[in-house]
Amino acid sequence: MENEIRSLLETASRLISGAQDDIKALEQVRVRYLGRKGEFAALFKGLVALPDDERRRVGKVLNEAKVELEALLNGAMDLSREKLRSRTQFFDVTIPGRRPLTGHLHPITQTAVEIGRIFSGLGFETVEGPEIELDYYNFEALNIPRDHPARDMQDTFYISEDVVLRTHTSPIQVRVMEKRRPPIRIIAPGRTYRCDSDVTHTPMFHQVEGLMVGENISFGDLKGILTVFVHQMFGPHVGLRFRPSFFPFTEPSAEVDIQCVMCRGAGCRVCSQTGWLEILGSGMVDPEVFKMVGYDPETVTGFAFGMGIERIAMLKYGIDDLRLFFENDLRFLRQF
Ligand code: DAH
Repeated sequence: MENEIRSLLETASRLISGAQDDIKALEQVRVRYLGRKGEFAALFKGLVALPDDERRRVGKVLNEAKVELEALLNGAMDLSREKLRSRTQFFDVTIPGRRPLTGHLHPITQTAVEIGRIFSGLGFETVEGPEIELDYYNFEALNIPRDHPARDMQDTFYISEDVVLRTHTSPIQVRVMEKRRPPIRIIAPGRTYRCDSDVTHTPMFHQVEGLMVGENISFGDLKGILTVFVHQMFGPHVGLRFRPSFFPFTEPSAEVDIQCVMCRGAGCRVCSQTGWLEILGSGMVDPEVFKMVGYDPETVTGFAFGMGIERIAMLKYGIDDLRLFFENDLRFLRQF
């Protein structure tokens, strides 16, 4: 019987090395030799027929052989699992790397940053204000009383009777003047909202407000500052003109046009053959607004302006559809 045990162990180890890291084949060897109905189980049963001392001796040999085979099998299993793992984790250092995706600022943000940079060079500080605004700051303090027809200029999202989504960045003028004394030189970029949606209007859009207040600030200062801005933003050869207009919070008021960036003033579809494009509203701060914030209109003067950032970005980058800014199509965004 001892010979039988030895040859059993030999064939089993031959089978194990022949399995070549094949886990299924190793499992078959385990079942065949160590399973409940396997070769070793049969030999253990055979022990019963042996005389006592013989059974003890052979039983010991059989047990040792079984332990040896188990160790052999476990070792082979571990090794083949390890090899399998290292094979699937194989790392080819010659494969070209995958470039990590990097994001960048949205063109609207880029334009706002550029506007801020230009005005910062002219001594203007950038400030912010709330998007959910009191009717008082959005309208009344800007000389737009309730029930006044001037309110029709802006279709408003009302949150309650006294609270609106700001329709422009102009309320920030009032908030800043309430808190500070002149001299003031600020710009205020941010989101604005109007109940308006078609090819050239989105319910949410962006504006930048500008305000300069002090002693002896004149319309000449307004013209000078805005001329520098236009030349830095669109190029030193782009012409601009100031066209009389009306805003309730400025007097006198003017809209600024620049020479059409598409046709350079010759007249085309973009500028409706006029050669000019409107880019902003501006004017001298109305004395009524100064009174609202407790300034003396006899001693301080100032100018203000407001422009749409989408419009500036469209003209600067030659974008012909406003909706592109809000669709988040990467083919569009990646161009900036
Ligand atoms: N708030 C105006 C608008 O949204 C733009 C504007 C015009 C702002 C004249 C100003 C200004 O500060 O002086 O249409």
